[in-house]
Amino acid sequence: MPASYAHRHGLRALGAGIGLRRDFYEALPRTERALDWVEIIPENFLTLGGRTQRALDACRERWSVLPHGVGLNIGGPDALDEDYVSRLSALVRRVDAPFFSDHLCYSRLGGVHLHDLLPLPFTEAAVEHVVPRVREVMARVGRPFLLENPSYYAKMPGGTLAEADFLRHVVEQADCGLLLDVNNVYVNAMNHGYDARAFVDALPLERVVQIHLAGHEVRPDVLIDTHGASVCDEVWALYRYTIARTGAVSTLIEWDQDIPSLDAVLDEADRARGVLREELRR
Ligand SMILES: [Fe+2]
Repeated sequence: MPASYAHRHGLRALGAGIGLRRDFYEALPRTERALDWVEIIPENFLTLGGRTQRALDACRERWSVLPHGVGLNIGGPDALDEDYVSRLSALVRRVDAPFFSDHLCYSRLGGVHLHDLLPLPFTEAAVEHVVPRVREVMARVGRPFLLENPSYYAKMPGGTLAEADFLRHVVEQADCGLLLDVNNVYVNAMNHGYDARAFVDALPLERVVQIHLAGHEVRPDVLIDTHGASVCDEVWALYRYTIARTGAVSTLIEWDQDIPSLDAVLDEADRARGVLREELRR
């Protein structure tokens, strides 16, 4: 395997983290339970003040804080939003994040925010569109950047590449990292009828710097990536499979809907930390 992206950029594995959500602004910075790092959705922290700023600053005093965006629109046809990238860059520096991330998708069209992370066609033309945009964002922000594999419910027409090859071409040509959402792999594999482990094997695993774990909703005909439940057993098994191949990488429990108690989310992080420790012992 070539030298990993994390190694080349001096990024160490941070352990198990959770997201700083509004419900946890007061309790999280004071928790006495184990926690290794915190992820924030930068769109919620671009304008700071009041309890938002207090929560962010208090977390930053204790942990690494990593911005994981939803608004970069790296794959859409619109020009990159200069104002957004400037404010994102300022936030990355403010929290001194070792890296930051967003999704390999599009989320804006003709200046309209779509409030969804929509899939790109798996084509060389899409690769050629995204790669210079990723390079521009990395140059503007000046920190390592990861793209996440999104969940999707319909394939964009015209695809000529396998999904794993599309991901590989983008991250290798842009020379960025991969945020591998293991729940998204599982949900996509079930919804589109492919083998999740074979998909993981086909990825450029030396570029995985972070992993997401989340819960989904099971409907009779489709799995919905809700981030609103515990991580299911099948996703834990796929996580173990992945970690055995990538080694221990920073892992986040994503919970964005029907958010339970802080303790319940930290329980999930404890379980991920246990898997990471097993891998380190191995
Ligand atoms: Fe994710």
